[in-house]
Amino acid sequence: MFDFAPDRDLAKPALYRELVDAASALVAGEGDGIANMANVAALLWQWLPDLNWAGFYRVVDGGLVLGPFIGKPACIRIAFGQGVCGAAAAQGTTQLVADVHAFPGHIACDAASASELVVPVWVAGKLIAVIDLDSPVLNRFDRDDAEGIERLAAAIAGNLAI
Ligand code: SME
Repeated sequence: MFDFAPDRDLAKPALYRELVDAASALVAGEGDGIANMANVAALLWQWLPDLNWAGFYRVVDGGLVLGPFIGKPACIRIAFGQGVCGAAAAQGTTQLVADVHAFPGHIACDAASASELVVPVWVAGKLIAVIDLDSPVLNRFDRDDAEGIERLAAAIAGNLAI
């Protein structure tokens, strides 16, 4: 089976380079976007410390619908503009939130969540999904995390379309 293992001693840029390589290898040659999202959610969970939720919301009929993830059961539908994921989708920009309780409209799927990173996933200029990472640690994510997940999204987006 797949035997990817993160080297936790690496600094974040190198850790993310290896994550992008592992994710690219995982999805290579597979055209089923749901299967690929499921494997990438598991990889994110394995790779990145201090997460309580890692996964995808897909763009369906102009809104976000829950996709493959690891973590507690989450809200199924999120309107564009609603919460952190909806802000990422509506603005088309990465949302790096140090304290979710200070974010207007944050949707608390898991009361343990304290900080959040949401990155849009684009295919040929069209938004198809967002990657959502939640952490129970305040200020868990920084620009290195945001850039790492943006690179991941760009590298695998073509294999995530449904
Ligand atoms: N907190 C998110 C909702 C999704 S759950 O965290 C998985 C938000 O405000 O968009």
